[in-house]
Amino acid sequence: MATKCFGILTAGGDCPGLNAAIRGVGRPLMDLYQAEFIGFRDGFRGLIENRVTRFADGSLSGILTIGGTILGTSRDKLHKMPVGGEEMDMTDVAVENYQKQHLDALICLGGGGTQKNALRLSERGLNIVTLPKTIDNDVAKTDVSFGFDTAMAVGAEAIDRLHSTAESHHRVILVEIMGHNAGWLALGAGIAGGADVILIPEIPFSVPAVANALIQRDRKGKRFSIVAMAEGAYPKPDDEEDQGKKKSKNKKKKESKKAAPDRGEETVDMSLVGGENCARLAHHLQDMTGLEMRVTSLGHLQRGGTPSPTDRLLATRLGTACAELVHDGEFGVMVGLQGNECVSVPLDEVAGNRKTVPLDHPWLQTARLVGTSLGEEE
Ligand code: F6P
Repeated sequence: MATKCFGILTAGGDCPGLNAAIRGVGRPLMDLYQAEFIGFRDGFRGLIENRVTRFADGSLSGILTIGGTILGTSRDKLHKMPVGGEEMDMTDVAVENYQKQHLDALICLGGGGTQKNALRLSERGLNIVTLPKTIDNDVAKTDVSFGFDTAMAVGAEAIDRLHSTAESHHRVILVEIMGHNAGWLALGAGIAGGADVILIPEIPFSVPAVANALIQRDRKGKRFSIVAMAEGAYPKPDDEEDQGKKKSKNKKKKESKKAAPDRGEETVDMSLVGGENCARLAHHLQDMTGLEMRVTSLGHLQRGGTPSPTDRLLATRLGTACAELVHDGEFGVMVGLQGNECVSVPLDEVAGNRKTVPLDHPWLQTARLVGTSLGEEE
């Protein structure tokens, strides 16, 4: 019987657990099923450029605990790939390279964007299986994605550390937590770290309600507070308008300060730094409460470093389940975790569906019951 060949790639933002998953897929395929195993470098970009790493005996050793991805990644979309200054649909080239490599299947590890790219290839007749990775935990049809547990631990540890400095200085510290348009990370890290206010995109927050929560704590003699704010959280539309007015006032103030001599300073692009929404809210809350505010943005710290044991276990379970699946010839699916089972879900039920925090999710009630404000109007 001819030796089978399986390909793998990692796409989208990196996260802890990707290497554990590559190992989980590759070890059984190579060692148990005697298949060839190759990796495309830098996500779908490597697939269209046919840049390949051939894994050999032993080459998957020592990677279980390493963060990031040994294959590299990119955020390229197959149908809108920047090529020579233009955006081109490179799906045909991806199909050709799959065939050139004589693949029996391609395994794509990624979040929402990757699931869409993968579905595109599956609809073109390629044998595709995906695994859900992302610190955002927003991939549909899986209870959890690997990377989330590690990032949540980083967020919780950051909140722990902020407690002692906030308390010493009697300050309110707002910490911006990643998560794209989903609140899982901020909510999980916020509850685990005991944040006093947690703001998530699923619940547009009332600025007066947040201010009131901080004032009430101050009145009770609690002379510090921690606000965990998801990067995608935003105020209710009316409050947003208020913040906008405030912002323009602040802007005027800044502009008049800027009338000072030009020292040739360059303007900083705040989108590169992060924490802009958080800083805007902090200014507003400082004016409303008279409490001293500070802002911290955790940014990419949350994506780096060694995966937690929970993420290593999850990535290894999903990876090995995927190896068995492709060996048995089941394709066009994502392998996810539901309950305690690794299950296969049709790709078209995953791609394009974001899993946000449902408004009746028990974590929300847990937060409320320990007295955490979610920025809701009373
Ligand atoms: O999707 C993972 C994530 O870390 C999001 O939480 C965040 O919004 C985004 O990626 C940041 O992307 P980049 O690494 O491209 O700046």
